[in-house]
Amino acid sequence: LTNFGLFNELAKYEEMEDKVILTEEDLLEDGFGDHPLYHCVVAEVPSEQQSNIVIGFAMYYFTYDPWIGKLLYLEDFFVMEEYRKIGIGSEILKLLSDMAFKTRCNSMHFVVAEGNKESIEFYKHRGAADITLDEGWRLFKIGKSSLFKMSSGSKE
Ligand code: ACO
Repeated sequence: LTNFGLFNELAKYEEMEDKVILTEEDLLEDGFGDHPLYHCVVAEVPSEQQSNIVIGFAMYYFTYDPWIGKLLYLEDFFVMEEYRKIGIGSEILKLLSDMAFKTRCNSMHFVVAEGNKESIEFYKHRGAADITLDEGWRLFKIGKSSLFKMSSGSKE
């Protein structure tokens, strides 16, 4: 599997595969260069046939909240099934926590699908608070067609 393959594996896991519209080229363009829009930590295992194989990743970026300042936003997190429950996910979170401290982040935010009970437990065991339940925050999006309707482009 390529790294891109792993992104698709996570989408499959979340039964959201049909929502993936991005191509490998888009990811390469957006994640590299002077202003990368995201970063990744990858977990690799050595392979005899080829160079190391990526078996897990976390995709994150930095964002900002006017109340609490700099945030590390964890966008995607995946370890291949046969490598789960041996501490790789915890090790990746440890790296992200180090990164958050070094870059003066005050929190790490992320969204988990309601049905993904196992990973909800995984995060809770590590101190995560459910701010939808506790504080009532709801997640919204404005899709491309609605954005276009509001944009000046629709009036041309
Ligand atoms: N022996 C036995 N059990 C162990 C060992 C070990 N050596 N090491 C860890 N464990 C246990 C841990 O205690 C942990 O259980 P806990 O929740 O009770 O603490 C469990 O195994 C998992 O811990 P790790 O091995 O550190 O994590 P893992 O490598 O399995 O990765 C992850 C966790 C990424 C959530 C993985 O399960 C996964 O990919 N799931 C599918 C995709 C997914 O749900 N991703 C998260 C979506 S949410 C988002 O992206 C923001």
